[in-house]
Amino acid sequence: MSIVTRRRLHHRAASAGAATTAGADLTATPVAPAGPGTAPDTADPADPASATVDDADPDRHSDTDGRLGLRFPPDFGWGAATSAYQVEGAAKDDGRGESVWDTFSRTPGRTHGGDTGDVAADHYHRYPTDLDLMRDIGLRSYRFSIAWPRVQPDGSGAPNQRGLDFYRRLVDGLHDRGITPMATLFHWDLPQALQDTGGWENRDTAYRFADYARAVFDALGAQVPVWLTVNEPKTVVQNGYIIGHHAPGRQDPDAAYLVAHHLHLAHGLAVAQLRDTGSTSRIGPALNLHPCYPADDSPASVAAARLYDGYENRLYLDPVFTGSYPADVLADLGPDSRLARGIHDGDLETISAPVDLLAVQYYTPIYVTATGGTERRWPTSVATWQQIFPEGMYDILTRVTRDYGPVPITVTENGLPTPDALAADGTVDDAGRVAFLRDHLAAAHRAIAAGVPLESYHVWSLLDNFEWEQGYDQRWGLIYVDYPTQRRVLKSSAHWYRRVIADNAI
Ligand code: FCB
Repeated sequence: MSIVTRRRLHHRAASAGAATTAGADLTATPVAPAGPGTAPDTADPADPASATVDDADPDRHSDTDGRLGLRFPPDFGWGAATSAYQVEGAAKDDGRGESVWDTFSRTPGRTHGGDTGDVAADHYHRYPTDLDLMRDIGLRSYRFSIAWPRVQPDGSGAPNQRGLDFYRRLVDGLHDRGITPMATLFHWDLPQALQDTGGWENRDTAYRFADYARAVFDALGAQVPVWLTVNEPKTVVQNGYIIGHHAPGRQDPDAAYLVAHHLHLAHGLAVAQLRDTGSTSRIGPALNLHPCYPADDSPASVAAARLYDGYENRLYLDPVFTGSYPADVLADLGPDSRLARGIHDGDLETISAPVDLLAVQYYTPIYVTATGGTERRWPTSVATWQQIFPEGMYDILTRVTRDYGPVPITVTENGLPTPDALAADGTVDDAGRVAFLRDHLAAAHRAIAAGVPLESYHVWSLLDNFEWEQGYDQRWGLIYVDYPTQRRVLKSSAHWYRRVIADNAI
């Protein structure tokens, strides 16, 4: 597996809603400037958490939005995303079990400052406030994840009703506010008990996941119109099993690609479970995709970029959409790889069962040199692995539609961390986030005009949160979280996004 050991692995591999948008008439008519903010007062005097919200007057924010006059299709799903371990906290509440991220973050030296998700943004307790903020911003869609260890504390057996009840309350609260729930079944918080029996290296974990998915579908299925199976299998593979700076902290490439197969199998088995319930809800994978460009025109760079694309993109797209692994990646890994030996008869049929949509998560491009290394071309964000290149959004969206057919697409993550600070006047000015979101949405708009059936877009993230090994050091939210008090403050990007949603245009 030459390239695996030679190439400098990316810290974070990059990624990618209803099909009615293709060919939509996206007129670039000027958009009337939004009037002064009309947000309702969110404070509920009976709710102490709500009283901590600071929804400052939007007019006090600098107007950095430079309207582009680009209208989105009617009913476009404007959204934002979070994941359970990153926002919920309440690590021991209501019978929640331990996950691999509890173990990993509590291990000295693993996260920035020893940060853990024990409290995070305390969303488990403050979700009513957070729901009100979503409504005030005008979100139409909210993507969150369900914590497997809340539903099955030890990873198997009878579901924990108190854990399921939290998600029932959350989903009901979304519907009450006219926001469509989009739930991810697995955003990396594997029950520790399953890690103890081999985790994703153990094929049985995929079957445990199918049982867990069934329990969730039985409890919530009718209320959740869109399900996502596994969030970014590539990040588990690369960061969890090759680089080792995510849970479970392994550095074993041969195990890593077997893990990829079992994550794919888990996806396919969950799809089958949903179909078996007779549900009409839709389901698909959530993949972080990175456009891989040759660093120069040399045939060697072109070939290296092609193989790099195999490891970054096709290894995750092909099994689901074509029922096969990319031949170049399999050849590079060799015939005796644990991946090659781990594929059982029928697995690829399970994995490639038709899905209803593809969730794409886009953060950064990759430039590949003739020797299989990478180069930086564009300025990075505070996250040094992230080069800011909005054009990559257009390239990856049009590429998946071209290569994998007109499956409906939702962008379930896109965003950046910025050095946000609470100013003396109580505002948070994140002009860099406004510019980033506007430019990436412009690229998404062009992709729609080019025929990509993009139905929705979710900013990562709704709230500042626990950014894995970076702990609370990186702020990715539209909403600032003052961790010592858990006070929420809408950043200028949230005010900007509210106007975008109200106008259905950037
Ligand atoms: C993605 C993850 C998400 C968050 C963003 C910044 O890879 O899915 O949880 O960490 O990156």
